[in-house]
Amino acid sequence: MSWTEADSTLYQALAAVAVPDRAEQIATLLALLPLSTGETARVVELGCGEGHLAAAVLTAYPRVSLLALDGSDEMRAQATARLRPFGGRGEVGGLDLQGTGWFAALDGVDAVVSSLALHHLDEAGKRQLFEAVAQRLSPGGALLIADLVEPKRAEALTVFAAGWDAAAERQSQTKPGSAEALERFKETRWNIFAFPDPQETPSPLFEQLTWLREAGFSSVDCYWLRAGHAVYGGYRSRARTGGPPLAFAEALRMAEVALN
Ligand SMILES: C[S@@+](CC[C@H](N)C(=O)[O-])C[C@H]1O[C@@H](n2cnc3c(N)ncnc32)[C@H](O)[C@@H]1O
Repeated sequence: MSWTEADSTLYQALAAVAVPDRAEQIATLLALLPLSTGETARVVELGCGEGHLAAAVLTAYPRVSLLALDGSDEMRAQATARLRPFGGRGEVGGLDLQGTGWFAALDGVDAVVSSLALHHLDEAGKRQLFEAVAQRLSPGGALLIADLVEPKRAEALTVFAAGWDAAAERQSQTKPGSAEALERFKETRWNIFAFPDPQETPSPLFEQLTWLREAGFSSVDCYWLRAGHAVYGGYRSRARTGGPPLAFAEALRMAEVALN
């Protein structure tokens, strides 16, 4: 993979400033899960990083078990430590996103979630992944993604780039001790809309929604979009069954706890 252990270290130093409204993105994923809080279910996370989203899912859904996968030794070590309080419900494993050997881990799971990882796959890789997930999810299952999306026009590129810089500035002012993170965000040219990087291959949102539909998801949509960061995905079934969804305010509270 092109992501290195140095990237893992840098990302951990930057993320609180560099990811726009990270708690809101995690809360959106939590509230979108097609699960009830008392339900027994299985979730897989792709590219789990330090395990914040995984910890939030395990907190919000106390009968869920989750397999958190990542290609970085450093990230897996962080995630393993973060998921330890959840005992056997949280497991961490290796991942080569570009490969297919791990697809078997998706068999029968109720949800696959991923945050800021799938843009490391090119178009063919994303389409293959969407198909693999659609074929393996349980009948009521969902694939829910938070990720960078590619702007389709120069105008949108400008808007995404400026929005991301503004989000980083704003977050550096509200999070104590984050002036250095903002400096590193700038000096490492982390904003790929301002400084395009051929290693990063986000795809346009509209195309991804189309690929999800073609892969077999029947209910497909974007649920949140800011500064070129989107939360989107697909459900295998048309309508929710079971109990009421998790309230967004509760999801946000749990996301904030998981990020601390
Ligand atoms: C930007 S970080 C996001 C981490 C976490 N999901 C989050 O939202 O904070 C990208 C993650 O994807 C993982 N990753 C990148 N390319 C990968 C690949 N080809 N195979 C497996 N993991 C990969 C990295 O190790 C890293 O943990």
